[in-house]
Amino acid sequence: VSWRYDSKRRVTLIGEQSINGIERELDKWGVKRAVIIATSRASKSESAELVRIQLGARLASEFSGVRPHSPIADIAEALRVAQNAKADCLVAVGGGSASDAAKAVAAALSGVAITELAGMHGELDSLVSLAAVPSTLSGAETTMGGMFSEEGRKRGFGAYGLGARLVVHDPRQLADVPVDILTTTGMNALAHCLEGLSCQGANPISDAHALGGVENLAAGLIRLVRGESSVEVLTMLQVGATFGGICLDTSGVGIHHALCHALGSTFGIAHGDSNSVILPIALRYNQPASYASQERAALRLGAVLSGLGVSSTTDLPAQVECLQRTIGVPRSLSELGVDQERMGDVAQEAFRELVASGRNPRIPGSPGELVALLDQAFEEEPAA
Ligand SMILES: [Fe+2]
Repeated sequence: VSWRYDSKRRVTLIGEQSINGIERELDKWGVKRAVIIATSRASKSESAELVRIQLGARLASEFSGVRPHSPIADIAEALRVAQNAKADCLVAVGGGSASDAAKAVAAALSGVAITELAGMHGELDSLVSLAAVPSTLSGAETTMGGMFSEEGRKRGFGAYGLGARLVVHDPRQLADVPVDILTTTGMNALAHCLEGLSCQGANPISDAHALGGVENLAAGLIRLVRGESSVEVLTMLQVGATFGGICLDTSGVGIHHALCHALGSTFGIAHGDSNSVILPIALRYNQPASYASQERAALRLGAVLSGLGVSSTTDLPAQVECLQRTIGVPRSLSELGVDQERMGDVAQEAFRELVASGRNPRIPGSPGELVALLDQAFEEEPAA
């Protein structure tokens, strides 16, 4: 047995006062004209203001209108702003939508036509530097690719050379973020870890990140909802999200994410919300094909749950349900206002992604199998 672990070049600043290190890093690259690409909420945050102070006279312009799922129209508008400003650096401020939009703009500034973005892969010599200041736990800033939405479909893109060269995780970035955004995007990060453990690209190095991510995320999320928003807890969450992003970028994702992407593009629901509902169902589906990796994760997650006085079992999907209840995230698609009649369309799209990626340990024979899984997500207590 052998593995390939691909470590990508990046500086990550993590912990107290990390934002204060941005100026020094950007100066090393000789940045003169930086453009912030942000979500509306993050652009108004205290940490965005701290980023502007760091950029100082280098801040050439700003686009603060990236909406959820990075619509192609927002990417086109951000590109226009960056071109007008003659940007030599893009700084993503916000959650995964801001990071993914900034990567798409970087690709477009480097010669990839926006119409050619979907499905791009391989190598790219990015003509602009990319920095990311995330305000959620999505981990999107860790990857070399992203997703955008176009005509109701989620489309993927990515290339070596497109990832952020600098990622900053200062706990102040999470301090004014609503708890429900942290818990749901935390479930997304947990899914990156748990899917990463069982997907085709899993290897001992990504496994270590996955298991460390499970511990940091579960403990951090439970302590957060109990009212602890200390530097220690916020940093645990940022470490966990980073570990999840490393898994996402090295071992890949499978059935859970295929379902969440299709739900997101069909109904526009937040990626964190669909992640919160689908995770135990997807884990249960994969159980026959990933028993050993689920057992390893269950040892770690079970220790966190019992250590914090949350009752649990040794079964990973049941532990994740226990975590769902403890941190109060959505547990059924009905709660999210999703129309059950349209599960056939969702299943078709998810099936296409699953077959194309081939990374999930168990490939369903038909979209019909996925409809049956999605139906479980409408039950008040998902099937055991
Ligand atoms: Fe995700």
